[in-house]
Amino acid sequence: MPSRTRRLRGRSMEPVDRGAAPEEVAIAFDNVSKHYSLSLQKHATDFKTMLLHLPRFISNARRPFVALDSVSLQVRRGESLGIIGPNGSGKSTTLRVMSRITPPTSGTVTVRGRVSALLELGSGFHPQITGRENAVLNAVLLGLTLREARAVLPEIIAFSELGDFIDQPMRTYSSGMFFRLGFSVAVHVEPEILLIDEVLAVGDAEFQKKCMDHIHGLRRQGVTLVLVTHDMLSLPMFCDRGILIERGKITDEGTPQQVVHNYLSRVERLLSLRDEEREQLKLAQALP
Ligand SMILES: Nc1ncnc2c1ncn2[C@@H]1O[C@H](COP(=O)(O)OP(=O)(O)OP(=O)(O)O)[C@@H](O)[C@H]1O
Ligand SMILES: [Mg+2]
Repeated sequence: MPSRTRRLRGRSMEPVDRGAAPEEVAIAFDNVSKHYSLSLQKHATDFKTMLLHLPRFISNARRPFVALDSVSLQVRRGESLGIIGPNGSGKSTTLRVMSRITPPTSGTVTVRGRVSALLELGSGFHPQITGRENAVLNAVLLGLTLREARAVLPEIIAFSELGDFIDQPMRTYSSGMFFRLGFSVAVHVEPEILLIDEVLAVGDAEFQKKCMDHIHGLRRQGVTLVLVTHDMLSLPMFCDRGILIERGKITDEGTPQQVVHNYLSRVERLLSLRDEEREQLKLAQALP
């Protein structure tokens, strides 16, 4: 499968060099930012409230929101990078930018190789058509030709173990069934780069084990992996390196063990602070 390099938006710049030759780098972010525009509208948009809040409706006030703030990173070819961080910190945004689903607002993104992404559950699937039809559609969206997608379909279906349900419309699927088909398609399109966003937990124990073994197999074949997870055990299990993203910035980077340890220690400190606050409150309430 020929390697493909794509750049998204921004000036033509080489990725930040941290010792790796450009051809060894699968993904490079150079000062990548992603801004969203948030509505300041706080009320439901029925006619009565619209009239009550007419000036705000007319101004259509919005404020900018920085989801990713000048992020620079590199993922080497064949490397496995784990990303952790609190809810809303920018992890999924990072994967969406890597997978070209969303363009960065500024900065340069370089991706070398065929990307396969397993992002939010159900993304890329149409609820009204069957699992079988969706599998072909999804494989084509991920870069296969129609002929290639049809050729690999039996393997996708067998791996998913969906049996007769493969011919049911996907609106009838459970979360785990969505995950089964999504994972099966994502790993059967010969990815050079695999992006996975916190979905493994949806599978049952047996299927999770099968997926984990498959991910280890892909890693041995040299597939580059970027894994977003809240499961702190997954990081050392699957990743060579970890990063912590908080409020759109990388705030820690190192071995998975170090990054998880630092993050959990901070969370623990925060929780113990809250305990102290609770104790102080109890003491204050006990005062006459
Ligand atoms: N399309 C959008 N429009 C406006 N804001 C968005 C959009 N997509 C994401 N955001 C905001 O960007 C921030 C980062 O979102 P993101 O999905 O990357 O978080 P996350 O780190 O993956 O969180 P989680 O752990 O909950 O999955 C959030 O505050 C989110 O509300
Ligand atoms: Mg997310």
